[in-house]
Amino acid sequence: MNILIIGSGGREHALAWKLKQSPRAERIFVAPGNAGTAIDAENVPISEMDFPALIQFAKQNEVGLTVVGPEIPLVAGIVNAFEKEKLRIFGPNKAAAQLEGSKVFCKEILRKGNVPTGNHRVFYDGESAMAYLKEYGDRPLVVKADGLAAGKGVVVCNNRDEAKDAVLRMTRDREFGDAANRVIIEERLRGQEASVLALTDGRTIVTLQPAQDHKAAYDGDQGPNTGGMGAYSPAGLVDDGKLHWIEEHVFVPTVHSLNRNATPFKGVLYAGLMMTPQGPKVLEYNARFGDPECQPLLMRLQTDLLDLLELTIEGRLEQIDLLKWDPRPAVCVVMASEGYPGKYRKEDAIYGLDEAANLEDVKVFHAGTKLDADGVVRVNGGRVLGVTALGDSISEAKRAAYNAVEKIHWNGSWFRTDISDKAKVKN
Ligand code: AMP
Ligand code: GLY
Repeated sequence: MNILIIGSGGREHALAWKLKQSPRAERIFVAPGNAGTAIDAENVPISEMDFPALIQFAKQNEVGLTVVGPEIPLVAGIVNAFEKEKLRIFGPNKAAAQLEGSKVFCKEILRKGNVPTGNHRVFYDGESAMAYLKEYGDRPLVVKADGLAAGKGVVVCNNRDEAKDAVLRMTRDREFGDAANRVIIEERLRGQEASVLALTDGRTIVTLQPAQDHKAAYDGDQGPNTGGMGAYSPAGLVDDGKLHWIEEHVFVPTVHSLNRNATPFKGVLYAGLMMTPQGPKVLEYNARFGDPECQPLLMRLQTDLLDLLELTIEGRLEQIDLLKWDPRPAVCVVMASEGYPGKYRKEDAIYGLDEAANLEDVKVFHAGTKLDADGVVRVNGGRVLGVTALGDSISEAKRAAYNAVEKIHWNGSWFRTDISDKAKVKN
């Protein structure tokens, strides 16, 4: 079967690499892809938002399955567009993708399903939000723009002044445009965060192993928020007991709530959870695989991913056996370009990729890279590579990942040095 993957990040490289291992996979295309997918698959120069061109490509190249990586095309309805043309595609349709596309929608689904999440209020204008802040007191809280804001629409505030500032930036200065037409003010939860993903066809739920992301830019969780500077799996803070609890009290009621709302969800549910002293609570849902969580997860997954994705879209997920996992942990270290998550350097040539690739149990997933006409791999994004390694323990996997990282460099490359150290902290 020919497969088309949509997107250009580390997640999409990992999806291409993993799907290629399926005995039923034939050609694998990635649109638009990066230098890594150009090597492990075939790149197609079509933007992830050009639905007519993607559909035409899928038809002309006998694509049997399209897999959508990022949220923007999902929220814009790429699944509806493909399904209208009777093309098979993995991911939620436009209505169900609102779970990620609108935080207000997500909170409503959680409320109807009685799924644990932070207490919150929704505001439609700046004045009422400001009035609420006055009566709320000086307790820490979080201000969120309703819509997609490239990961920047959440402001975690220590006090009322910071919260006021966030509300004004959203409602008066319109920093996030229409994404902040509605604003959520939410209690600030404390604890460690975990990412738990589950495949669902709308009935059956198959929960993946837990992972943990590192969203802050610098060591010790300091600095600005990023798309994720590294991840590892399994995440010990979610042991088997907690994972079952999350399946029962988070995923099952979420899937039911989505069904009752007439927005059934098919695809991968990504729960961003805070492990609070009162138990896990949902911070957010994403409607897709996490990046970089996908990289260590797929390094460990031994079940055929093509089978899993097909059974999901066909509504036959109950036929899947228990998932098989490499028992060894995997650690993914993101190497970033100078300036990221602000304005970053581009075009520098990347050295040492072959040396790193030759290491055992290491895979260098590309994210912001491109292959130039001379075959040189150059920087083309803020998060450039996701260097991922397996090891007999978390610390062995960490050592192996950083050993590979040390082989790679370019002008301005940098990375966090403490990815997976949180595994040592008991929750
Ligand atoms: P979200 O896009 O909703 O996941 O928010 C991005 C990040 O903001 C999360 O990964 C958390 O670190 C933080 N966050 C969101 N909601 C809360 C909350 N209620 N309490 C504390 N931190 C939060
Ligand atoms: N790693 C965070 C995300 O994929 O949204």
